[in-house]
Amino acid sequence: MVNTAVNLCGVELENPVIPASGAFGYGREFAEIYDINCLGAFAIKGTTAYPRFGNPTPRIADAPGGMLNSVGLQNPGVEDVVNVELPALAKVYSKKVLANVCGFSIGEYVSVAERLDAEDIVGWIELNVSCPNVHGGGMSFGACCEGAAAVTREVKRVTKKPVIVKLTPNVTDIVPIARACADAGADGLSLINTVLAMRIDPAARRPVLANVTGGLSGGAVFPIALRMVYQVYEAVDIPIVGMGGVSTARDVIEMMLAGATAVGVGAANLTNPFAAKEIIEALPAEMEKYGITNLVDIIGGAHNG
Ligand code: FUM
Repeated sequence: MVNTAVNLCGVELENPVIPASGAFGYGREFAEIYDINCLGAFAIKGTTAYPRFGNPTPRIADAPGGMLNSVGLQNPGVEDVVNVELPALAKVYSKKVLANVCGFSIGEYVSVAERLDAEDIVGWIELNVSCPNVHGGGMSFGACCEGAAAVTREVKRVTKKPVIVKLTPNVTDIVPIARACADAGADGLSLINTVLAMRIDPAARRPVLANVTGGLSGGAVFPIALRMVYQVYEAVDIPIVGMGGVSTARDVIEMMLAGATAVGVGAANLTNPFAAKEIIEALPAEMEKYGITNLVDIIGGAHNG
């Protein structure tokens, strides 16, 4: 009998598997096809103060080993999330969500986080300073230490729940940014968001995505994500949610050995809507295969000393 339980910033999870923001909507569609209470938790779609239609289409493109998205933070706005999405979710889901909070100013991050912090179903605020698909918000805060720290510090002032800062891989070195967030009071970090990328249509001689660039996710980015989780684990003492191309129980174990306490599953949900459930079901046998009894024991296990 193996034990898959982990503790993420003071909240107990039955298992470490967390569908990542943007790949699971607000949970509703997935709850129609399986009981999503099997999840450790999940992260809701990035939420802003006001509704957003997102970027023009095409905003999805194929890529070797993954996909590109340039959704542009389409979401119904925080009031709709609080009044419609979260109450609907609470009818079918009894666990906690990571509320992914986005903004175009520090004030917007603060007001959205404060609003979502008051909701029972919200277990953590996931501060999204890493969306690569919008201009003037998202990644522009998270690509430098000062911006990431400023958002973290101000949001911490208005929240009681743990604040997990979601980092971008689109920087020369993610480690100083991770440290800056930790120093500013972050309770945890999630990484990585998508990798800035593009495709070109040779016939049209134009970028495939209307926004020109988009974020690459899927198996192709897994080794990059793993490397960054490994590096960040060595630099900070707060829990990490490792994500980026995770699609198997073995990937979960690798992420935890690199230093993740919990593991996000993103693009895999889009090609197989049962992916997260199947990973959870496969985890005990995979643990037995590697002689793991308690999953928490392997966190950071690939580091020396
Ligand atoms: O375009 C998007 O909505 C993506 C968001 C993200 O990567 O955080």
